[in-house]
Amino acid sequence: MEKSITGRVLATIAGFYDERRYGYEGFEGYRKSTDLFKLAECAAAMRASGYIGPERTVFADLGCADGRVNVLMSYFVKTSIGIEIDPEILSEYPQRKEDVETLLREAQLPLPPPNIFLLSGSSLEPDTYRRVFEATGVRFSDIDLFYTYITLHDVFAGKIENEARPGALYLVYGFGRILPRYERLELLVPDPGGQGIAALYVKRD
Ligand SMILES: C[S@@+](CC[C@H](N)C(=O)[O-])C[C@H]1O[C@@H](n2cnc3c(N)ncnc32)[C@H](O)[C@@H]1O
Repeated sequence: MEKSITGRVLATIAGFYDERRYGYEGFEGYRKSTDLFKLAECAAAMRASGYIGPERTVFADLGCADGRVNVLMSYFVKTSIGIEIDPEILSEYPQRKEDVETLLREAQLPLPPPNIFLLSGSSLEPDTYRRVFEATGVRFSDIDLFYTYITLHDVFAGKIENEARPGALYLVYGFGRILPRYERLELLVPDPGGQGIAALYVKRD
């Protein structure tokens, strides 16, 4: 990762959250945490290719857990939206964000921009997007980049195929060698950032 201020910010955030990663499947559900070092590389590559930009991109993590992906992505996008079905998991967000901000302040690094909006609800329910719109003015069809870490990736793909705007992007994290295919989404970049962990799709029309 570059040694610029941005590189140091992203390394601080990734280092903090990556020490607190989850990975379990079972009766209590499915929860895994994105490796933020890898995601930062993917995001930097997407920015370098002009697919995203801090002045224009509306981002949504469709299962955001403690909002760690939103905190990282807030530096790369204009609006960083996260939706989480489990309110208990989402309730971890404020304390973690406060702790990472303390680290950033101590290192005299810029805090996450005030563009993060997280909400409890299902990413499949229209009512959730009504509440997103009330709080941010963003509709599902305004979202430029959708994200999931495997969770419901095929179901979310169907919703994006049907309801997202043409040109909308979908970053699916958690797949390496064998990538999923979706009927009406085109594989745009099989391995953005060369991390072997995510693939970028686009809705053509
Ligand atoms: C694999 S974890 C990923 C968490 C986070 N995005 C990350 O990458 O670190 C998936 C999360 O999606 C949530 N989830 C599952 N179904 C959902 C739904 N329909 N709407 C919103 N969140 C959902 C789960 O509770 C879980 O916290």
